[in-house]
Amino acid sequence: MSDADGAIGEVLVAAEDLERRVRELGAEISRDYAGRDLVMIGVLKGAVLFIADLMRELEVPCEIDFMAVSSYGSATDSSGVVRILKDLDAAIEGRDVLVVEDIVDSGLTLHYLLKTLHAREPRSLEVCALLTKPERRRVDLPIRYVGFEIPNRFVIGYGLDHGQRYRNLRYVAALNE
Ligand code: IMP
Ligand code: MG
Repeated sequence: MSDADGAIGEVLVAAEDLERRVRELGAEISRDYAGRDLVMIGVLKGAVLFIADLMRELEVPCEIDFMAVSSYGSATDSSGVVRILKDLDAAIEGRDVLVVEDIVDSGLTLHYLLKTLHAREPRSLEVCALLTKPERRRVDLPIRYVGFEIPNRFVIGYGLDHGQRYRNLRYVAALNE
């Protein structure tokens, strides 16, 4: 992709490492959910590439649904104010639910989301996050599956944006600010 603005910095996770890790996570999730019937919830828009690749690696029956929440706007820091912009299409009561996130930063968005989903009484509720920035965490969260822990940098690519751009990169890179 052309990078006229010079915004694409150091590559933190290469495309082949993403592919390998997604395959591993798919195998692990398939083992853990064997004999069950999964609902994957993608958090728009950042998780779109990850969930599409992850579901192709699953060997258990799965459905896909999406939620959109507002967290940051286009700035790079969490406000802690979360609003549901798009809710799920279907009920999750009694279902095995896996929330698929692009990145857990402060954890505030996910904390709110889990509280909301828990109230709908799923049979189980787990999280799969491609990336986490442990240094930035402000609330303690149970994240069952993690792709990569990354340092405290703002990152773009493989679904992650800056001002809605760069989601289509095949790798994860630091943003040059
Ligand atoms: P949190 O509420 O601080 O955990 O942030 C959650 C959301 O902020 C993520 O799901 C992303 O959409 C966005 N976000 C956090 N860090 C980054 C980043 O480094 N690059 C792009 N988006 C990010
Ligand atoms: Mg997100």
